[in-house]
Amino acid sequence: MRRHLLALLAVLGALVAQDARTQDVWAQDAGAQEPVRVGLILPLTGPFTSTGRQIEAGARLYMREHGDTVAGRKIELIVKDDGNVADATKRIAQELVINEKVSVLAGFGLTPLALATAPIATEAKVPQVVMGAATSIITERSPFIVRTSMVTTQITVGIAEWAPRNGVKRVVTLVSDYAPGIDIEKAFISRFKASGGEVISELRVPLANPDFAPFLQRVRDAKPDALFVFVPAGVGAIFMKQFVERGLDKSGIRLIGTGDMTDDDILNGIGDVALGLTTSHHYSAAHPSETNRKFVAAFKAANNGLRPNFMGVGGYDGMALIYKALAATKGNTDGQALVDAMRGMKWESPRGPISIDPDTRDIVQNIYVRRVEKVDGELYNVEFATYEAVKDPLKVRN
Ligand code: PHB
Repeated sequence: MRRHLLALLAVLGALVAQDARTQDVWAQDAGAQEPVRVGLILPLTGPFTSTGRQIEAGARLYMREHGDTVAGRKIELIVKDDGNVADATKRIAQELVINEKVSVLAGFGLTPLALATAPIATEAKVPQVVMGAATSIITERSPFIVRTSMVTTQITVGIAEWAPRNGVKRVVTLVSDYAPGIDIEKAFISRFKASGGEVISELRVPLANPDFAPFLQRVRDAKPDALFVFVPAGVGAIFMKQFVERGLDKSGIRLIGTGDMTDDDILNGIGDVALGLTTSHHYSAAHPSETNRKFVAAFKAANNGLRPNFMGVGGYDGMALIYKALAATKGNTDGQALVDAMRGMKWESPRGPISIDPDTRDIVQNIYVRRVEKVDGELYNVEFATYEAVKDPLKVRN
């Protein structure tokens, strides 16, 4: 009996000591105001390095311009390379949450990387700011996901309506064979048909190490008015090279697509063969606003003359969203409080006016129809038509 009593007292004593230590830690935390850590996970090696480099440069530029303190709290950026491997993204996200105690997970250059991390954001109740990936479903995979990039379905809107009004009636579609490609194929076809167009063939090309040659031969044989293309950022140059090598630029078959194909990062490298190419997208380095002119100049100055593309803007605006949310919560890093602060936020981006849909946590933005032209000796996507404040058409329908 006495032994039992002593054992019980020992356990109680240990519990009291433990509680005192815990309280001590809390007290220290509150006093010292730990920095707010933001984990930025990106493909910084492998075939999508340009995406990671652009997003990181955009995020760093925003911090440089706006200082590293918000609501009295220092912001610490922790950048990690996932090499475009979804398992690595998820593992890194887990480590950042557990070991580094990040308050926000950010980055996510491609859809599989964003999807793999969604369960971590949900479990840890940490906001996941998607700065690159674009598949429609992403924001539905966790109530903690907020997106500053674009939605696949948005960026097809302009070109699907422009094409049939401009002599493009019969089209072959060619997309990268993974989630955003499938989304874009479906969204383009449905809107293009509704606008009077006809789709005669649908081609899907593997994402990894794409060989477009056999597909381009099928396009040549089908003799459409135009080929509609979606390939993710960074792949457009490979596609265009093969398009020219197969002589399709001289076949009379026009080329249209989403602006990922003529992304600003690679456009000058593609060369004059891109002249006249018409696409729709949410950002062009030639967007004629004072905010964008300043952004492009500052981005180039900070990155050895590198021109920003839409990924760079996704990173810049993603960091803007994190700063604005922290300012709104007065430095409170509670995940739910941050996501609630992000809902409905509106501001002027280098791409034009943007907002976060309060219901879907997805980006609402203008979509522009653009044509590649030479401006001061360089190639640019010059915007000539605007669809204002476009929401993800799939989510609007739901
Ligand atoms: C995506 O994987 O969601 C993605 C990546 C790059 C793009 C478009 C979509 O240009």
